Amino acid sequence: MKQKYFISIGFVVLIGVIIVLVFRVTSLQKETADNNQKLSARIANFESSINSLNKTIDSLKEQVPGLGEYMTTIQLHMAKLWFAGQAKNWDLAKFEVHEIEETMEVVANLNITRKDVNISSVIQSVLNSQIPDLEKAIQEKSLVKFETAYEQTVITCNSCHNAVGHQFIHVIKPTSPPVTNQKWEPVLPDQETD
Ligand code: HEC
Repeated sequence: MKQKYFISIGFVVLIGVIIVLVFRVTSLQKETADNNQKLSARIANFESSINSLNKTIDSLKEQVPGLGEYMTTIQLHMAKLWFAGQAKNWDLAKFEVHEIEETMEVVANLNITRKDVNISSVIQSVLNSQIPDLEKAIQEKSLVKFETAYEQTVITCNSCHNAVGHQFIHVIKPTSPPVTNQKWEPVLPDQETD
């Protein structure tokens, strides 16, 4: 009789445990499903962020000037540089060389190769030799040294153009000012309203 009683108790406890376990499993399943849903939502969010980021990168790439634009900028500053030197306006000459230098640094960082020519390293060598020669001549206010350094720079411009198969882009010393709305001669303090 006692044995039967214990078996019944055991049976009730067992049923209880089973019910608790079933509840637990169901709630865990629900929790997992919820988590999966949250995770999918986050992944979808993440994917859409990446897509919009890619679109931004593509549009930024389109807005970045190409090598041709940088070259046109360098060409303009080279022309101004010549007239600044001829007018012995050494402050302006220094400024123009600096502008060329800055643009060349941007070009060097583009890491482009054309016709097996590593544009960055050739530009870097111009930055390491012809540009300092120009700066030195300007610092010494020597027109002779300035003209020599200028001619050497023009030679390096064209030798790179030749190397990349662009011999048709042939830079020369300018024969007339690139703009007419800028004074090349140094401005004396009492002429500032000219
Ligand atoms: C390392 C090589 C390299 C050097 C050095 C170089 N260029 Fe260029 N240049 C190029 C390449 C490549 C192009 C063609 C760009 C393109 O494909 O749009 C070019 C194009 C040009 C153009 C034509 C731009 C246009 O769209 O009409 C001018 C002008 C020019 N360069 C001026 C200069 C001047 C001035 C110098 C020297 C101070 C110089 N370049 C030095 C590689 C060089």
